[in-house]
Amino acid sequence: MSTLPDDTGKFRVPSLRNVAATSPYMHNGKFKTLESVLDHYAAGVKDSPTLDPLLRQPDGTLGILLSADEKAKLIAFLNALTDEEFLRDERFAQ
Ligand code: HEM
Repeated sequence: MSTLPDDTGKFRVPSLRNVAATSPYMHNGKFKTLESVLDHYAAGVKDSPTLDPLLRQPDGTLGILLSADEKAKLIAFLNALTDEEFLRDERFAQ
């Protein structure tokens, strides 16, 4: 799976399937937990000329503001993308 820029100039978004089982996160593995990924979206986005507009709020705030409750619900959603049967399947064992 590649997160390198494709021919649209955008980074590819990685699959979130089984994301709870694939720490560390991001292309450089800088985040060990899903909580730290969400903290980054909420308060760690840095400005750049190529920043995706989705990460810039109408009032100019950077990132995606998330309350503690929204973060908890997102973590529950991301955990729900875990396919235990797939993860235990001998046919895909390394
Ligand atoms: C609250 C909303 C979002 C959630 C919960 C979310 C969740 C995640 C997670 C968990 C990862 C790490 C995946 C991995 O490393 O295996 C990730 C990476 C990524 N996301 Fe998001 N994301 C959100 C919003 C966005 C938005 C708005 C964009 C685009 C503008 C975006 C683009 C990306 C890209 C390009 C990566 C890969 C970054 C890298 O490899 O360094 N995400 N996201």
